[in-house]
Parts: sequence; C-alpha cells; structure tokens
Amino acid sequence: MAFFGKNKKGEPGAAPLSGEIILPRHVGIIMDGNGRWAKKRGLPRKAGHREGAQTFRTITRYCSELGIEYLTVYAFSTENWKRPADEVGALMGLFKSYLKEALEDFKDDDIVVRFIGDKAGFSPELQELMRENEESSRHRDGMVLNIAMNYGSRDEIVRAVKRICAQVQDGRLTDADVTEQLISDNLYTAGQPDPDLIIRPSGEYRISNFMLWQSAYTEFVIMNKLWPDFTKDDLNEALRIYAQRNRRYGGV
Ligand code: IPE
Ligand code: IPE
Ligand code: MG
Repeated sequence: MAFFGKNKKGEPGAAPLSGEIILPRHVGIIMDGNGRWAKKRGLPRKAGHREGAQTFRTITRYCSELGIEYLTVYAFSTENWKRPADEVGALMGLFKSYLKEALEDFKDDDIVVRFIGDKAGFSPELQELMRENEESSRHRDGMVLNIAMNYGSRDEIVRAVKRICAQVQDGRLTDADVTEQLISDNLYTAGQPDPDLIIRPSGEYRISNFMLWQSAYTEFVIMNKLWPDFTKDDLNEALRIYAQRNRRYGGV
C-alpha cells in the first residue's frame, strides 16, 4: 500500500511521511462488539469473544508490520466482572489459552507484551502467565503491545494518587513535585507516549473508562463494525481518517 510508511522510532508526535500518510505512534483500540456479533448469528456470547481473539491477533500483527510503535488494546475492564459468571468464566478460559499459545506468535514480530490493569484480580495461574509473557518479551525491540486487562482508568488514577501520597508522606516528594508529568509517570503507561488515535468499533460513542488521563488530546475514530468483523482495511480507513485530522492541542 503506497500510502503507508514506517514511523521513525523515538520521534515526538507522528512522523510526516512524504507521499505517504502520517502514522500515529500510539494507537488504542476498544475491542467492542463481540457479544452483538454472536447474537446476530444466534451463537453464545463466548463464540463472539473467540472470534474477537482472532481479530486481535490479525490486527496486532498488522499494526506491527505498519510500524506502529505502541498498540493498546482494551480486553477486559474493571466493570466487566459484572457480567454473568459463565461469560466471565469463558473470557478467563480464553485469556488462559491465549496467553499460553497465541502470544508465542508475537515472537516472530519482535513484539513487546505488557499488561496494564490490576493483575491481582486474576487467578494465580493467569497472573503467572502474564508475568511470563512480559518477562520473555522484555528484551525485544519491536512494537509495544499493552493488553488492558482488569483495566479501568479511574482505578489507574486512584492507584497513581495513592502512590504519590505515600511518597509525600514519607518525605520523598513535596506538594511542589506533584505535576502532570508525575501523574503520567505513575500510570500503567509510564514512559509511553499518549495515544494519538483511539478506535472504537461497534458504533458506540463512549470511552468506557479507557485511558482517561492519556487521551486528553487523542483523536477518536468510531467505526460501525463489530470487532470480530474488523479487518485490516478497516484499520487502514481509521488511519486515513486520522491522517486528515488537524490536531491543534488548544492552539490555533
Ligand atoms: C467486547 O465485546 C469484549 C469485552 C468487553 C470483554 P462485548 O462483549 O462488550 O460485546 P457487545 O458490546 O456486548 O456486543
Ligand atoms: C469496553 O466495552 C471494555 C472492553 C472492550 C474491554 P464494554 O462493552 O464493557 O463497554 P460498555 O458497557 O458498552 O460501555
Ligand atoms: Mg460491549
């Protein structure tokens, strides 16, 4: 595809590409619509999650091929525990088999796997799998893939505030040290650029507790496709829409 090109690592903001499009450095995806996809076919919701996991695999690899530097996918929110036990159970089963097998795929693409969210909410077995995946991919130098699991941005901000309070209390920090940067540095995404683009498939116009702090100036693209139906072409379209946006950051 002529209009795509590699982004330059370490460059602030998206790199302009002559004759090609401007790629975001950091893309977030709210992987939504699995349940509706299954319902449309008269299948149980878990069938939609299984299909959604395949889309995740395809789109992650594609982002890495394009030269996206950071991809954050929202897989399970702090609110998703409210769902019926059999659906939550099916999702946990899927995460387990996925973390055991499919993440191996990312080896060839040199993808660094990170989990953002409260790992303590998961079973010891899942926590261990998450740790192993992070550990074994740490040395790689390809795209960073953040998998948001038991992630809620309000929870993330509360956790950051508590960490900062503890440091103020024991005298390592003073009030004057509390800055926007310090808050960013205490989020799960510490050290990473804010997302340039967040894509929400399934046509819902809401953020659902995803990267609230980090998305202050993120461009949003809502797409009318359910996540299991989402294709590389849909991603291309979102990237094209992003490239046409005029980001002003409050300036003129
Ligand atoms: C997203 O799909 C996956 C998770 C939230 C785990 P949904 O399960 O929310 O699908 P819909 O929105 O009900 O169609
Ligand atoms: C957001 O989707 C969470 C994930 C995709 C993991 P939800 O389906 O949970 O969000 P709401 O309930 O429609 O806001
Ligand atoms: Mg949903």
